[in-house]
Amino acid sequence: MQRTHVNGELRISDVGKNVTLIGWVAKRRNLGSLVFIDLRDRTGITQILFDENLTEAVKNVRNEYILQVTGTVIERQSKNPSMKTGDIEIKAQEVKIINSANQPPFIIADETDALEETRLKYRYLDLRRPVLQQKLFTRAKIVKAMHEYLDANGFIEVETPILAKSTPEGARDYLVPSRIHPGSFYALPQSPQQFKQLLMVAGFERYYQIARCFRDEDLRADRQLDFTQLDIETSFMSQDEILTLTEGMLAKVMKDVKGIDIELPFRRFKYVDAMNRFGSDKPDTRFNLELVDVTEVFRNSQFRAFETGLTEKGSIKALVVNNAGDYSRRDIDNLTDLVKKNGAKGLVAIKYLNGELEGGAVKFFGEQEKENLIKILELKENQLVLIVSDVWEKTCSVLGALRSHFGKTLKLFDKNSYDFLWVVEFPLVEYSLEDERYYSVHHPFTRPYDEDLHLIDIEPLKVRSYAYDIVLNGYELGGGSLRIYDFELQQKMFELLSLTDEEIETRFGFFIDALKYGTPPHGGLALGLDRVAMILTGSESLRDVIAFPKNANAKCPMSDAPTPVDETQLKELHIQIIKEQ
Ligand code: AMO
Repeated sequence: MQRTHVNGELRISDVGKNVTLIGWVAKRRNLGSLVFIDLRDRTGITQILFDENLTEAVKNVRNEYILQVTGTVIERQSKNPSMKTGDIEIKAQEVKIINSANQPPFIIADETDALEETRLKYRYLDLRRPVLQQKLFTRAKIVKAMHEYLDANGFIEVETPILAKSTPEGARDYLVPSRIHPGSFYALPQSPQQFKQLLMVAGFERYYQIARCFRDEDLRADRQLDFTQLDIETSFMSQDEILTLTEGMLAKVMKDVKGIDIELPFRRFKYVDAMNRFGSDKPDTRFNLELVDVTEVFRNSQFRAFETGLTEKGSIKALVVNNAGDYSRRDIDNLTDLVKKNGAKGLVAIKYLNGELEGGAVKFFGEQEKENLIKILELKENQLVLIVSDVWEKTCSVLGALRSHFGKTLKLFDKNSYDFLWVVEFPLVEYSLEDERYYSVHHPFTRPYDEDLHLIDIEPLKVRSYAYDIVLNGYELGGGSLRIYDFELQQKMFELLSLTDEEIETRFGFFIDALKYGTPPHGGLALGLDRVAMILTGSESLRDVIAFPKNANAKCPMSDAPTPVDETQLKELHIQIIKEQ
């Protein structure tokens, strides 16, 4: 036996026992004729005491060596209450050096000042840090709870291909050249969307998969190129049933992983209301601070800054911040920069001081407008009013960005709270002025509201869909929808998205065909597993909950992937690299 106990296990009640431990040297201290070594494994740390008989044997032992120690558990003279094993130590009788180690490029401990790039280069050492190990343990617990819940509810896990065909989830595909079919490519799945729907056509009724997904998109803290979804699809269930089922699963995850009972059902916000009130389709409702519509206050205004907001598609909204009367010119400039970064043309900032509105824009307001503004915003002394006027969506999202900014900087929420909610009733499509065409808000398989079907040809932007997003603390955790199960409607949807008959046939012909063979009403959703793990472990980035992530530059600093390949491989794949000029 290599060990009798693990390093996080022994307590005061074990005093007197003879034990054998094995682990990595986390720390070494020399104290006169004694040497203390902290031995670490994935369960914790135990302090080992080597007296003068053994100091010679551990003379050359450095951090990250692996030792096997046999000795007696004794009570510590100076206890360490911050360690689980802090009441005891092992008085070593025998020691064996199992392996030596080079000096690591950074200290392997929870706190490290190593650059993330260095940590990712030596990820196998970084992952020895207890804090990161805990995050991956938590992630595994989350997955376990999901498996248990779905199994108990009659779901089966089915794997779907990684070498697949393009799916329209909105990002660029990763393509894999075929050796056997020169000039043809597989696409790595952006999600298993079509496969899971085909499993419903095949009659499985309840499918799930911990699915790897691949999207060639610009990275952010909450986005990776390859990431993992908990992917679910069901037949014969209503939207309400799917939401309830998901809530039950998340309640179990929260209970099993965090020991928290969350309140069910989750609140549901219509997309329009979420945007109007919080300026986001993934609102963080841990704090109030809602936007207020002031379009009507300025209905007859000639103020140039309000022009777009007063057009048919426009709106003017305000956000009121407390105790902000003393914001300096510079503070306001910073806020203006922030709204500009979010695509707004400008920001109107007004203070309410001594019962009066103050600010450059006030001279453009009539007396009635001032009075109405104070009334509708219920202004109180020392408040700052921030107004944005633009097309509706932009007005909302820009003020939403400001709202998030204040949420964080003014610490308006409790960091340890978990606020789940649904956003429902998304529009079916949105219009891109740039590309002069419609795009799906979710994806082209999402089912329109039955009562809006007549609008598809005349006013597609007004068509609502059975799509829903699950949101936690301002992050989109997941999304899904009821699906189109009528091949003619599916065909029509592709046409609305400006796909030609030929494109529909080559890209989705097989799928539309399948819909012709008795397709059940079905729907589902996918949760971003990395995002769930990121939030539940209190991490700032997905990289902390992924064992081997890519950096912000889409590279793996450890293996250096992606790397050039040799000529023979390229030749086999019928590929020629064109060097950029
Ligand atoms: P969607 O594209 O909304 O839906 O993705 C579902 C969830 O996956 C996570 N996610 C990501 N996580 C990390 N990095 C990324 N690049 C990334 N992209 C998405 C998010 C997101 O909410 N097939 C549909 C689901 C369905 O309709 O059933 C889909 O993939 O948490």
